Amino acid sequence: MDELIEKVHRFLGEGPLYEHSLAVANTAQELAKKYGENPSKAFVAGLFHDVGGIIPVEKRIKVAEISGINLLPEELEAPMLIHQKISQFLTRWKFGIFNDEILSAIGCHTTLKAQFSKLDLIVFLADKISWDGGDNAPFKAGLLEHLQVSPESAALYYIDFILDHGVQVVHPWLKNAKSELEKQVK
Ligand SMILES: [Fe+2]
Ligand SMILES: [Fe+2]
Repeated sequence: MDELIEKVHRFLGEGPLYEHSLAVANTAQELAKKYGENPSKAFVAGLFHDVGGIIPVEKRIKVAEISGINLLPEELEAPMLIHQKISQFLTRWKFGIFNDEILSAIGCHTTLKAQFSKLDLIVFLADKISWDGGDNAPFKAGLLEHLQVSPESAALYYIDFILDHGVQVVHPWLKNAKSELEKQVK
């Protein structure tokens, strides 16, 4: 694991993106232990989830195009949303991690998606708990409160929160995840 941490450290350099990646890896590992998922897969998915963040927002459409990544209209409108797919691409092709469960969790860590797995859900939540916008994520207290009920409840709380607080573009995967969570959370 130390070798993978070192690779990500070298790739991202010193700074908030690397710190955030390590924090998400640790949080995902803890959540995996608590909710019966594989802690190592959760750690690796957390560690690599934002490697695509190194590509500046204005270059993401171009990088996706030359990498053969299919983009949705919502992603063209809000290129911030592309970094989950670029992270997935880089993790596979630059870092040689081919585990489908890990790649899936990386590829939907911002939006979640329809028929998400438990690992997808854990990495999605770890990314919000170890938020990179500072300590005071406005949704954090509510999210942690809902996590006492279940991970599904916490995810639904977060999605409702961002929809209520004027998210710029609503990604279709987020809508799909919300519908599924609504069926699961009583
Ligand atoms: Fe991200
Ligand atoms: Fe992140």
